[in-house]
Amino acid sequence: MSDAVLNQFTQRVEEEKTVGRKKRIGIIGTGGIAHAHIKRYLMMEDVQIVAMADLIPGKAEAFAEKFGVEGVHFYPDHKSLLENEQLDAVSICTYNATHAECTICALEHGVHVLLEKPMSVTTEEAVEMMRAEKKSGKILSIGFQPRFDENMKMVKQIVQSGVLGEIYYIQTGGGRRRGVPNKTFIEKKTAGIGAMGDIGCYSLDMVLNAIGYPKPLTVTVYTSDSFGSNPKYNNPADAARFDVEDFAAAFIRLEGGIILDFRISWAMHIDSPGDTIILGKEGALRIPATDCWNGSIGGPMTIYSDMAGNRVETKIPVCENKGGDVFYKKVRSFLDAIDNGGKSPVPTSEILYNQAIIDHIVKSAAIGKEITVEIPEI
Ligand SMILES: NC(=O)c1ccc[n+]([C@@H]2O[C@H](COP(=O)([O-])OP(=O)(O)OC[C@H]3O[C@@H](n4cnc5c(N)ncnc54)[C@H](O)[C@@H]3O)[C@@H](O)[C@H]2O)c1
Repeated sequence: MSDAVLNQFTQRVEEEKTVGRKKRIGIIGTGGIAHAHIKRYLMMEDVQIVAMADLIPGKAEAFAEKFGVEGVHFYPDHKSLLENEQLDAVSICTYNATHAECTICALEHGVHVLLEKPMSVTTEEAVEMMRAEKKSGKILSIGFQPRFDENMKMVKQIVQSGVLGEIYYIQTGGGRRRGVPNKTFIEKKTAGIGAMGDIGCYSLDMVLNAIGYPKPLTVTVYTSDSFGSNPKYNNPADAARFDVEDFAAAFIRLEGGIILDFRISWAMHIDSPGDTIILGKEGALRIPATDCWNGSIGGPMTIYSDMAGNRVETKIPVCENKGGDVFYKKVRSFLDAIDNGGKSPVPTSEILYNQAIIDHIVKSAAIGKEITVEIPEI
């Protein structure tokens, strides 16, 4: 290698080093969830928020003012922000329908990305995002903060310990008696998907992460919008524009012969579609449902097994979370990965399968038949 090339390389490495200096952060989309991001960034000394963008005029400015952040540059969209700023990383907090274009644009500008969940709307978008990630060499982490909850880690620890034996059936999901959101969550043009993208992706992540994210093979499903689009149960203006699902029930075959039985609901005539259960050949795990998905568990978990000829039930106490809340850990783990050149804390290689299940639920519902999950090569 010539000296000139070596110098250029060394200079680039120096420029890219983020340890010991403030990381330059942009926030794209300054709606509801952006509040959770900025609050955590403001707790961190190694961060400087330098730019914000929102499609709605004046929204980013009001957001910065609310949090007393000064010296920020404001932009009318993600593109102008990324073209005009030298950033280390962005939080993408836009609605689902713009996740893919904002993420791909950021990666193409050489910026690390912390993207809100769900990863995208379709499998094809998720694949394009992963291609951009691969090409850029930057970190793309998907904002599943429940991953950082000690109880969620315990679910994985129990399954991975082997105490349940070989897993063959999982029932998961969640729901509310009434809980259809409004704003940008209920239209295809902004959300793309309904309850599945809002809360269903969390239930899927809880169990798929525990079993090591096997590839989904086939999906058959029922979806409906009986509450969201009904003015009897939703306010008439929202019911008129509601065009996503408020309920989905799916039967998914996973690699390794595991069956995943998944139900998610924003509203129904019952309070919950039931606990999460994981059945293995040596034991079973019950994870109590929460009233509404809140990223944790509804009470102590139970392991059911046989011991010396006796049927035993072992209660696992609810674990305490220490060292900051899950949103803090989600942001911190992303920044630490940037500093250490580490791997993405919530990697796309896993969340791709979460997204593919959701997307194939939509596709299966459209034709009313079981379909094979197809994922293009990255
Ligand atoms: N992790 C969590 O706990 C959690 C909680 C709520 C929402 N979310 C996720 O966060 C995302 C946003 O939800 P929200 O409630 O904040 O929605 P929101 O509608 O309140 O805010 C989204 C904002 O993004 C802006 N926007 C959209 N496209 C843009 C673009 N190209 N450039 C700049 N700005 C753009 C919109 O104008 C809007 O102000 C969703 O994907 C949702 O699933 C995550």
